[in-house]
This record gives sequence, structure tokens and C-alpha cells, in this order.
Amino acid sequence: MPAAASNMAPEAEAGSPYDYYGCGPRLKRLTTWEPERWKNLRDPRMAGLPAATREAMRLHTWQERDIPSLREAYFAARNLARGNLSWGNFLVLAGPTGTGKTHLAAAIAWEWFEDGCSVVFARMDDLLDGLRAGYENSTYRQRLEITRRCELLVLDDLGTEAAKDWAEEKVDRIIDWRYINRLPLVVTTNVRGDELAPRIASRLADRSCSIVIQIEATDYRTEEPKGRINQGGDKEK
Ligand SMILES: Nc1ncnc2c1ncn2[C@@H]1O[C@H](COP(=O)(O)OP(=O)(O)OP(=O)(O)O)[C@@H](O)[C@H]1O
Ligand SMILES: [Mg+2]
Repeated sequence: MPAAASNMAPEAEAGSPYDYYGCGPRLKRLTTWEPERWKNLRDPRMAGLPAATREAMRLHTWQERDIPSLREAYFAARNLARGNLSWGNFLVLAGPTGTGKTHLAAAIAWEWFEDGCSVVFARMDDLLDGLRAGYENSTYRQRLEITRRCELLVLDDLGTEAAKDWAEEKVDRIIDWRYINRLPLVVTTNVRGDELAPRIASRLADRSCSIVIQIEATDYRTEEPKGRINQGGDKEK
């Protein structure tokens, strides 16, 4: 039975980062939306998006390689890039080097960014360095909050950071926040689930909210181009 109009939750404030999400007021209470703060993320550099990837690492520059796990990764990435969260709000792309994990993660991030969403794209070790630097100039809290609460977070190369208690606690705080609040997160990693901290691995592998794709492919960087099909990629977003 449809809810009576008077019982319906009010819309999120127009233009707020939460109005797309369909649960604005509830989510908004959990967050600290301050337009000034999010405006910074309209700059790709503030969002951590490398300029060179804007042209190069896109869905339409992806080349089909006729490898099932890569096809699966591409379709999951395309889904999330379009904002379809119905299969899960976490996407984990795991696999060996040079298989296009960062390419797909950046492609998702650019689609969200260009759609006006607040995005943070960060290599895991850079993110931790930034947080550490935040202690010096009193921006630690702000950095942590932006990372936890932005609309899309991409953690590139999870598992390459030095396995220190400090780092693990920060990664745990960020991932747990996004897990509890069902916020979109894309993770790329070279390491196996059992090499990650158990609390982090468990959340990333939760079947109710996470799509985990184990890529099995050779390094694209060193592959003979003739092995690729559909040169020019899928032009469809
Ligand atoms: N299927 C593909 N189509 C087009 N370009 C690709 C494809 N796969 C990889 N590339 C390109 O190959 C290079 C390496 O890919 P990428 O950096 O995404 O690999 P990765 O899986 O993140 O590797 P690493 O684990 O070392 O970080 C990038 O320039 C990327 O754009
Ligand atoms: Mg990578």
C-alpha cells in the first residue's frame, strides 16, 4: 500500500549530494553536508582524479579481451558507473597486475564525477599519507570525514599499504562507515582476501552488498595487441 503523503519522508534538499540516493533525510542526519566543503570536490584534483585518466581510462576506451572475468568486471563497472546500486554498493576488483582494475575504477569515478557527485579517488597509501599529514595541519578530521562520507569512494590498490596497526585502523574506520551506511565503494587490489585484515575482508566480501570479481587475465600492458577484439571499445556509456 502506498504511504500516505503526510507520512512520506521529505525530499533531500535540492542539489544536496544525497537527493539522488532516495533516502536523503535519513542519510543526511548521518552525514555533515556542507555545500562549501563538497564544492571542493568539483575540482578533479581535489577528488584525486588524475588528469590523464579523464581521456584514457573510460568505459568507451575499454577493449574487450574475450576473457570471462574481465567481461564480468566491465559489466559490473558499467552498472555502477550508471549509478545502478541494486546489485550492491561495493565493487571489489581483485586480480593480477595490468588487468585493468584501475582503468575500470577510474572510469566509474569519472562518470560519477561528471554527473555532479562528490567523488574521492585515492591510492590507498596516498590516502593514508594524506591522513597522516592531516595531523600536522589540523585537517585530519576533515580528510577522514570527506573520505567516509563522499558519494563515491574509490580505494585503488588496497593491500599495498604497510600493514601497520595505525593504517589498518584507518582503513577499517573508512570501510566500516561506508559498509554500515551502504555508501558506494570501489576497491581494487592485488592481494587475496585472506591477506587482508579479517574485519576488512569480511565486509568487502559481504554477499548482500558487495560484488567481488576475481579477475584472471594476463597483463594488458605487455600483451600483443592482436589478442584484443572490438578495438575502440564499447562507445555506450
Ligand atoms: N581491457 C582494457 N582496455 C583498454 N585498456 C586497458 C585494458 N586493460 C588494461 N588497460 C590499460 O592498461 C594499463 C594498465 O591497466 P591498469 O592500470 O588498470 O591495471 P591494474 O589492474 O590496475 O594493474 P595494477 O594491479 O598494477 O595496478 C592502463 O593504461 C589501462 O588503461
Ligand atoms: Mg591499478
